[in-house]
Amino acid sequence: MHNFLPIAYFENQFVPFEQANISIATHALHYGTGAFGGLRGIPDPSNPQQILLFRLDRHCKRLSASARLLHFELPADKIESVIIDFVKKNQPDKSFYLRPFVYTSDLGISPRLHNLEKNFFVYGLELGDYLSPDGASCRISSWYRQEDRSLPLRGKISGAYITSSLAKTEAVESGFDEAILMNSQGKVSEATGMNVFVVRNGKLLAPGFEQDILEGITRDSILTMARDLGIPVVERPIDKSELFIADEIFLSGTAAKITPVKRIENFELKRDRPITMKLKDKLAAITENRDPDYKHWVTAIPLA
Ligand SMILES: Cc1ncc(COP(=O)(O)O)c(C=O)c1O
Repeated sequence: MHNFLPIAYFENQFVPFEQANISIATHALHYGTGAFGGLRGIPDPSNPQQILLFRLDRHCKRLSASARLLHFELPADKIESVIIDFVKKNQPDKSFYLRPFVYTSDLGISPRLHNLEKNFFVYGLELGDYLSPDGASCRISSWYRQEDRSLPLRGKISGAYITSSLAKTEAVESGFDEAILMNSQGKVSEATGMNVFVVRNGKLLAPGFEQDILEGITRDSILTMARDLGIPVVERPIDKSELFIADEIFLSGTAAKITPVKRIENFELKRDRPITMKLKDKLAAITENRDPDYKHWVTAIPLA
């Protein structure tokens, strides 16, 4: 059960969440022609009268790009101003997750993107840990990450999440917490809603954009933080077998933050995770606006 925030943005206005409903004939529901964002908001630990959002500009830019892939021009600054108003209207007092969504809102059939009304809504829900902070067990999925030649992977297109859904359920039903998907070349791509990082011999390895990953904003933040901390970073294709001999593996995402991997298939990983923990602590400090060097990544929204 979720605790939804009381106010939603729907069809260009703020309405009670319960009144933000769509028709069963909505085009996007049938064809997966939507795209979404996902941001976390937290009450500022040093001033509960304001809410902190992490990398709001990047999230709005990515959603605007996703909208464009759906033939919908929705400027990032419009998304940003709606999100700021959404937070002010809801006055959240706990950590929450904010879900902006763009979609073909017209009614009726025929898969296409042209000559259709598009729309944009935002809702929110309270959200604690998405995965256990102690670590996740992961299986290698029998489902493969899609390729950009059949689906625009630079957007967070809702229809694409059938693959994540299949992989997640397969993992959970076989006794794991999460799934890691390979791409069509057999290289490590990402998890069902997170990017993947591997530590080997003191180096932080990450699959590059050419490995069919989503351009994760947490991933981008981690690469910047790691370079600033003097951790050597290499973006390169990662083989499946490297997962089994890794010193550390972790998953990154807005919902999952930095979650260590404790087991991959039948291989247990060491509980000593110096690089993961260093990055995890740094990310927590930045999102709570405690790190003076990264204040530009945090938007403080006053509630009064
Ligand atoms: C498929 C997928 N990969 C990676 C991520 C991580 O992206 P971000 O760090 O921007 O949340 C997400 C979550 O948004 C996702 O859904």
